[in-house]
Amino acid sequence: MREIKLCPSMMCANFSNLKDEVVALDNAGADIFHIDIMDGQFVPNFGMGLQDYELIRNETKKLLDVHLMIMNPSRYIPLFAKKGANIIYFHPEADLQPARVADEIAKQGCKVGIALNPGTSVTSVKELLLLADYVLVMTVNPGFAGQKYLSYVDQKIDELIRIADNNPDKYSFEITVDGAISPEKIESLSEIGVKNFVLGTSALFGKKENYQTLLTKYKEGA
Ligand code: DX5
Ligand code: ZN
Repeated sequence: MREIKLCPSMMCANFSNLKDEVVALDNAGADIFHIDIMDGQFVPNFGMGLQDYELIRNETKKLLDVHLMIMNPSRYIPLFAKKGANIIYFHPEADLQPARVADEIAKQGCKVGIALNPGTSVTSVKELLLLADYVLVMTVNPGFAGQKYLSYVDQKIDELIRIADNNPDKYSFEITVDGAISPEKIESLSEIGVKNFVLGTSALFGKKENYQTLLTKYKEGA
């Protein structure tokens, strides 16, 4: 059994019956529900709305992570914290004071997630990583499902794993990958220490197998 967490990317769910999707995924063994919030400015798209978030929150006791792909994310930290978010990911480029955003997330009682775009270096966020509980490594450019995995990001994953392994007293973040995560990527990345996998159209939604079969297969490494 792999010690990993599977995080359905709910923007890929069947919105004609979101409630049933949440219940089915919860029963199928989903660990964390990944909720993409977009403002059309930080990313050229719109993801899920507050009502979608609230419906999911009301339908499951599992963890919810909110991926804020928005400018000036500090504005909405209290709102999502009050509405029961467990992990809040933000993009450091989106706020003039990213360390202050991290502090605010922690102050609100949520886990701190730093989201790194494909073109954002580890070096540029080294200090922020000291404040992170999770690092979301974007393996596609953010904002859209159904894209191709960007292999050049693999070296960043290796670098983050090295940092965490070599300085466990300073860095305590878990790595999450988000974007075009296929069954093969779950296998290869879980073997090197990636803990959490955002699953969208590449591994979970729109497949012929049901959610239970897929999530069990990914957990068992069958
Ligand atoms: C990307 C989104 C994810 C993910 C979707 O910004 O955060 O929802 O890419 O999964 P795929 O890429 O497999 O469709
Ligand atoms: Zn996301």
